[in-house]
Amino acid sequence: MSSSKEKGKRKKEKVRLLRAFRKRLLLAFCLLPFAFYLSACRQDMQNQPKYRPYRSSNFFRDELSGRPLVEGTVPRGYLRSDREFHTGKKNKPVGLQGATGIQNAATTQQNTAVQNAAGKSAPGTQSATYPDDVDTFPFPITAETVNRGQERYQIFCGVCHGMTGYGDGMIVRRGFRPPPSYHDDRLRQAPVGHFFDVITNGWGAMPSYAAQVRPEDRWAIIAYIRALQLSQMPAGSAAQVSQRGSSPLAGKGVNNQTAVTQK
Ligand code: HEC
Repeated sequence: MSSSKEKGKRKKEKVRLLRAFRKRLLLAFCLLPFAFYLSACRQDMQNQPKYRPYRSSNFFRDELSGRPLVEGTVPRGYLRSDREFHTGKKNKPVGLQGATGIQNAATTQQNTAVQNAAGKSAPGTQSATYPDDVDTFPFPITAETVNRGQERYQIFCGVCHGMTGYGDGMIVRRGFRPPPSYHDDRLRQAPVGHFFDVITNGWGAMPSYAAQVRPEDRWAIIAYIRALQLSQMPAGSAAQVSQRGSSPLAGKGVNNQTAVTQK
C-alpha cells in the first residue's frame, strides 16, 4: 500500500519536472533571435568589409580598390559599331588618317563645285570647320524619313528654333537665348554630322537631346532641317544645297560619289 503511494508521488514529481523543463525550453527558443541580435551577428552587419568608391586598397598592386573594366567590355545596348550612324563622325578621324590627301582633294573638289554654283567665296569652308563630321546621311532618306523628322522636329526643336527654323520659337519669345537661324549661310553649309553632334551633345546654351531623340530620329530631324533650309532658299539657288552633297531632297548621286571618293 505505502509503496504504491510512494510510486504515485514520484510519478507526479517527474511530470512536474518535465513541465518545468518544457517551459524553460520554450523561453530559450523565444530568446534565441535576441541572442543573435545582441552578439556577433549585429557587429558583422554593422561593420561590413567593403570598399567605398575611390577608397584606396593595399590588396591590389595599383592600390586602387575599383577594378578597371576588362578591355573590350561593352555595356548592354551600347555596341555602337556603326560610328557614322551613332556619332555623326567619320569612321577615321581626320587627324589620324593616313590618306588625308584623298579627303582634302575630295573636299576641295566639292568646294570648287559649290563656289562655281553659288558664285560666292568659300561657302565650303564649313567642312574645314568640322573636319570630323560626316557630310552625308548614313542611310537613304525617303519621304517617310522627312515626315518623321518633321514630327520630331516640331515636338523637340520648334519650341526654340521656331517652326520654320528662324530661331524664334515660343521659348525664345519668352526670354530664352535665341539660337542662330538655320537659314544662315554657316548652318546651310554645315555638314549633317555637325547637326547630329549638336543634338547628341548639346551646343552652348542648348542642352543635349540624346535622351529624348533616338539616333534614327536625329537623322530624320536633320533631313527635315535640310528640307526647311531648301524651302527658304532664294529661287534658283537650290544648287547650293544639292552640291553640298547633304540635301535629302536633291538626287543622291552627289552624296554617293562623295562617299565613294572618301573611302
Ligand atoms: C531649349 C531651347 C532649344 C531646343 C529645344 C533646341 N535647341 Fe538647338 N539651340 C538652342 C540654342 C540657345 C542654341 C544656340 C546655342 C549657343 O550658341 O550657345 C542652339 C543651337 C543649335 C544649332 C546650331 C549650332 C551651331 O553650330 O551654332 C543647331 C544645329 C541646333 N541647335 C539644333 C537643334 C535641334 C535639331 C533641336 C531638336 C532636337 C534643337 N536644336 C532643340 C536652343 C534649343
